Amino acid sequence: MKEIFIDQTLDLIGQKVVLYGFIETVRNHGKIIFFDLRDRSGVLQTVIAESSPFFEQTKSIRPETVVKIEGEVKERPDRLKNPELKTGAIELEISKLEILSQAQTPPFDLNDDGKKINEETRLKYRYLDLRRTRLQKNLIVRHQTNQFIRNFLSDKNFIEIETPILTKSTPEGARDYLVPSRLYQGKFYALPQSPQQYKQLLMVAGFERYFQISRCFRDEDPRGDRQPEFSQLDIEISYIERDEILNLVEELIVALVKKIFPKKKFLALPFPRLNYGEVMAKYQSDKPDLRQNRNDPDELAFAFVIDFPMFEWKEEEKRWDAVHHPFTQPKLADGSKNKEKLIETLKKNPQSLLSEQFDLVCNGYEVGGGSLRTTDADVLIETFKAMGNDQKEIEEKFGHLIQAFSFGVPPHGGIAPGLDRLLMILQNESSIREVIAFPKTGEGRDLMMDSPSAIEPTQLKELHLKIETKEKK
Ligand code: AMO
Repeated sequence: MKEIFIDQTLDLIGQKVVLYGFIETVRNHGKIIFFDLRDRSGVLQTVIAESSPFFEQTKSIRPETVVKIEGEVKERPDRLKNPELKTGAIELEISKLEILSQAQTPPFDLNDDGKKINEETRLKYRYLDLRRTRLQKNLIVRHQTNQFIRNFLSDKNFIEIETPILTKSTPEGARDYLVPSRLYQGKFYALPQSPQQYKQLLMVAGFERYFQISRCFRDEDPRGDRQPEFSQLDIEISYIERDEILNLVEELIVALVKKIFPKKKFLALPFPRLNYGEVMAKYQSDKPDLRQNRNDPDELAFAFVIDFPMFEWKEEEKRWDAVHHPFTQPKLADGSKNKEKLIETLKKNPQSLLSEQFDLVCNGYEVGGGSLRTTDADVLIETFKAMGNDQKEIEEKFGHLIQAFSFGVPPHGGIAPGLDRLLMILQNESSIREVIAFPKTGEGRDLMMDSPSAIEPTQLKELHLKIETKEKK
């Protein structure tokens, strides 16, 4: 294993070191050749002279070749120091060089931010695209963010629990990705649109404070802030009030930004809590961009939007659908808490109901959504009915949850900030694809692996599936 990263060489002037990495640039001056060596931590100028027994071999080295270099770290003469490079005051005098893997010329330049290169080409060669400093940094910062979140929540007595990927459909408003079952002919698993039901069942199981950096899958058209698979910081808490959830998320984000993104400034602290109706009237959007100066990349205008309506009308399906999801507590518009009146209103006048949903917005993006949950089975059943489910459908789709609640359910609520969107904003990127290692294209394809792709007829047979090909007209 390599022992020294390039950014550590600054402290090693006069010492012999062994470095590994990619050759970034080659500058051949005839009797002396300079190679900029790059590893994850930075770039260092290395130099080899004609007198070296390795000189001949180095002449064939092209950029991106993988090498092992031994040599002495030397301070450069003052006039040759490069203040623009972190290691610009030093260089490595090569005493031994080993080519570990020759590189062909890459299909595009890796030494700039890559923003001018066609994105499909970048994604086809993503492993090369990821070598560029901007994307290396984005993923390293993503790791630091995950690490920070894990420590922050663990210190507050949360535990991280993994939930299944092969599961059953949970309505979050998008189409499910389905996985055919080999053992149960004609039956399918669904990939989770979110761990919503599992995290609520973990509250029934008594875990009280759960989080998970969880992968979610939604079959909807991708765009700049939407991917078919994405990551949420999924949180659920028992015995909690709405404002305690909002305070926790705010505290987490403020601490995270202070530690990892110290240049960023919050427009308003505490985050404003805005009423949905007022926000819609004023901005015609439920995720308004509240920044004062949109040209300032360091301004963060976070806010919570609260008091959403419970239902919205789905014209194609001619039914009411939950604005957030059906597990969200509905509440009477006048704020009163009367179960009979609530059930009556669910039956007769669902459009008048508000809900205990809250969204976190930042700079014009929805970066999180959550709610207090309905734990009263009667209210839950009536909510499903208001959305057009009959008794049989409710039993089939949600019977397990209703049954679970009958064994004693702590009141609970939670939230799920979308990590990709949050990181996109914090890293000043214009698309979440820039903060994801291997994203899909805008058309939902993985051009590097070439997926989705056809499968073998034997696999189809095993899964009891037949592909219907559209007749050509
Ligand atoms: P919701 O559906 O609002 O809530 O999702 C939470 C957050 O996830 C992010 N997000 C996405 N990011 C990238 N690509 C997507 N396709 C995508 N879809 C959503 C957004 C969004 O705010 N189970 C509930 C949470 C809860 O009630 O606790 C849920 O998933 O930033």
